[in-house]
Amino acid sequence: MTTRIVAGAAGVEEASALLAAGQIVALPTETVYGLAASALDPEAAARVFEAKERPAFDPLIVHLPSLDWLDRLTTAAFDPLVQSLIQRFWPGPFTLVLARRPIVPDIVTSDLPTVAVRMSAHPLFRAVLDHFGAPVAAPSANRFGRISPTAAQHVLEELDGRIPLILDGGPCAVGIESTVVAPIDGALHLLRAGPITAEDLAPFAPVLPPPSAIASPGQLPSHYAPLTPLRLLSSAAEVDKFKPAGPAGLLAWSRPFRPAQFAAMEVLTLRSDPREAAARLFAAMRHLDSLGLDLIVAEPPPPAGLGAAILDRLRKASAYSE
Ligand code: TXA
Ligand code: MG
Repeated sequence: MTTRIVAGAAGVEEASALLAAGQIVALPTETVYGLAASALDPEAAARVFEAKERPAFDPLIVHLPSLDWLDRLTTAAFDPLVQSLIQRFWPGPFTLVLARRPIVPDIVTSDLPTVAVRMSAHPLFRAVLDHFGAPVAAPSANRFGRISPTAAQHVLEELDGRIPLILDGGPCAVGIESTVVAPIDGALHLLRAGPITAEDLAPFAPVLPPPSAIASPGQLPSHYAPLTPLRLLSSAAEVDKFKPAGPAGLLAWSRPFRPAQFAAMEVLTLRSDPREAAARLFAAMRHLDSLGLDLIVAEPPPPAGLGAAILDRLRKASAYSE
């Protein structure tokens, strides 16, 4: 199969027609590129698992074309806490895990009694869903365990020859995956840290850790991983003292100059802006990963707010290597 990249609105109708035919297509969202399939078609959803080499136990996020779909797919649409959260955070980088209705195919939720739902704010993604008129299941458009794609070219690197179409919407503005939250008994269990931070959620309900390790398979320790071993250090001072044994790259937070012991450096944000850092994180990791280095050393972000989500991705990227 040849994979074509089509830029912008020109590809909307074609993407929608492919979805209607049970095919899978890569679409831009504000967080990362998604690999979309009709969420109500189990065979189409199976194609997503196949193209990504994703294990069947890891459920997909379902993206809604409009709010009325929430009640069609879940039993929690009119829960007051759910209502206040979606009024504040949808459309946007925010995913809710809610009790599902039988219409949602088992393969999409990996047989869980819940379904993860979100509404993207990306204009191209919304245009495709408006045209298609039904929800799509769309995990990040990378092979399982690898770095999420934040540009059409990254999707091509991951899935060339496995999917017919990538809709190119340019680089993703947010750059890290949506926050995943499960409301249970009036509390919000944070299953995946993301652009909507614990601080953003706290006014709505108590924010708690995941109820158990298996509640969100995205909690698997190794995820978002480059092929080059990545080591997360605990401070800038530790980076300055670090002596790599072979050619190493530095994934820096905000330093202007490359320390001499590193062969390459990517800086996430010279102005110490976590939003800018999040938007650049995966492209910077991907670039360092392409240089044939022995090691990538990462400097930690300040851990509050969006920094917590960035730190989470760096920890997971380093899980194989430590
Ligand atoms: O920003 C995003 O969320 C992107 C864009 C494309 O929408 N999507 C994304 O999907 O990151 P994915 O499949 O890579 O991550 C979905 C996460 C996984 O950690 C999965 O385990 C969790 O959501 N998840 C999905 N359904 C769940 C469920 N029913 N219960 C608990 N966790 C669930
Ligand atoms: Mg993913």
